[in-house]
Amino acid sequence: MEVVVLRMGHRVGRDKRISTHVGLVARAFGARGIIYAGTIEPSVIETLKKVVETWGGPFIVEVKPSYKAIISEWKKTGGIVVHLTMYGENIESSDVLEKIRNSGKVMVIVGAEKVSADLYELADFNVAIGNQPHSEVAALAVFLDRLFKGEELLKEFEGARLKINPSSRGKHVVKIDE
Ligand SMILES: C[S@@+](CC[C@H](N)C(=O)[O-])C[C@H]1O[C@@H](n2cnc3c(N)ncnc32)[C@H](O)[C@@H]1O
Repeated sequence: MEVVVLRMGHRVGRDKRISTHVGLVARAFGARGIIYAGTIEPSVIETLKKVVETWGGPFIVEVKPSYKAIISEWKKTGGIVVHLTMYGENIESSDVLEKIRNSGKVMVIVGAEKVSADLYELADFNVAIGNQPHSEVAALAVFLDRLFKGEELLKEFEGARLKINPSSRGKHVVKIDE
């Protein structure tokens, strides 16, 4: 399944760290890439590209001006759009995840402080990771983990310079020669 994350509503100056974390979670939890809609500090993009260089990919990082154009392009190629929101169908009590799994291409949208009202209509599914307010980072991680049933945690990243050998004590990092 091809999954791309769309981050909306980034506030320059305020959301730098959390928008970086949205990107890190997207990569680590199995998405193919992240698109930031609107304006974002170049350092967010640089940080994510450095992580891909060091820890591997593939993982695409893009910035595009209009979320409407991004969503419309995605739908034209047969993809579905999932908007994560506390107001949506509860992922635990509904069959929304099963419906989403029927698609081969999923765009997952997470917002910042407040998202545009039209998003609730543009999305094919509005999904709540519980109907309580929390965080886009937590919502994205839980959603992707459930979508991929935990298998994304075993993913082997390509082209990495460093790799961790899991251990019960200390840090075991291996340098990979090209
Ligand atoms: C600071 S929250 C804003 C909460 C917002 N009022 C909402 O609709 O979920 C920022 C983002 O976190 C995500 N989020 C927060 N709580 C969520 C929840 N319970 N379920 C799904 N997504 C959530 C949404 O993507 C939201 O746009």
